[in-house]
Amino acid sequence: TQGLGALAAACGIVFGTTLTRGQVEESPEMRRIVEADAGMVVPGLELKWAGHRPSPEGFDFRDADVMVRFAEEQRKALRGHALVWHEALPPWFAGAPTDAAGMRALLERHIRTVAGRYAGRMHSWDVVNEPVEPWYRRPDGLRDTPFLRALGPGYIDLAFRLAHEADPAARLVLNEYGLEMPTEDNAARRAAVLALLRGMRARGVPVHALGIQAHLSAANARSFDPSVLRNFIRDVAALGLEVYVTELDVTDRGLPPEIPARDAAVARCYRAFLDAVLAETAVRVVVVWGISDRYTWMNDSPNARREDGLPVRAHPYDQDFRPKPAWHAMADAF
Ligand code: XIL
Repeated sequence: TQGLGALAAACGIVFGTTLTRGQVEESPEMRRIVEADAGMVVPGLELKWAGHRPSPEGFDFRDADVMVRFAEEQRKALRGHALVWHEALPPWFAGAPTDAAGMRALLERHIRTVAGRYAGRMHSWDVVNEPVEPWYRRPDGLRDTPFLRALGPGYIDLAFRLAHEADPAARLVLNEYGLEMPTEDNAARRAAVLALLRGMRARGVPVHALGIQAHLSAANARSFDPSVLRNFIRDVAALGLEVYVTELDVTDRGLPPEIPARDAAVARCYRAFLDAVLAETAVRVVVVWGISDRYTWMNDSPNARREDGLPVRAHPYDQDFRPKPAWHAMADAF
């Protein structure tokens, strides 16, 4: 049988997964699955600041280099995640400069060094991750972060321009969550993202795609709405941008404990979501945020973990690396 990557490629989609150095090194099964199923690899931790900036002066690319080498040996495309994010910052960042000149120098050095190191080898970079938070009720809907406080909203344009200079070949992505639900909160985030992207395009900022994280919940009938989502993707495409699904997963939080029912509901959710997004030609990439239940971030996430304490069954393979209905649902969707 063909892997998910080959099936996706046949309909013009690059399919991939996140994984970490620990998984690559300790799990031959993960290596086998990635080899069979993924056309793309996204290091889960290694390209975040906390993953390679042990000190303000220093960079430590040992973990990131292992991931890049792994992807290249397996001939997989690579996505970088993420050059600017308000989370996964190293402890020393709490003492980073808060004035514009100091923060600008820090960002410049970071992006030039990191994007420059892997220039020409990245399919794409998440340049800014999760920049929007309409709850804060700034008129522009931008999230209040150390970058915004020091530099104002212009930090986003700056980051994209620096990334483009450092790696002109990489597709540059603005990545965001909470874009697929038919709720007021998500509608506000969609509006803020569209306004942000429209402004960036008008200012000639090198932005090429919107990343839709897509952390879904099978128990929630409002986890995504196909027509809302498709309309939004079309609005993004109308700005001349591509759309990548960057962190797809489906928690079974809130579903009853019986495994067959959980697996079936999760599979249906993957299928319905993929059917919706794959109908839009702007969508070029689908990445799952975990391919096996053995290695999932969700059991540590207060919003995604199960309340009954059972491990989640959120990914295409189970804890013993056997394909689940979710795998088949994805294969059928491609
Ligand atoms: C998660 C990683 O998978 C975990 O291993 C880590 O402990 C926390 O971060 N949105 C993102 C990702 O953009 O970077 C997050 O990844 C999941 C939510």
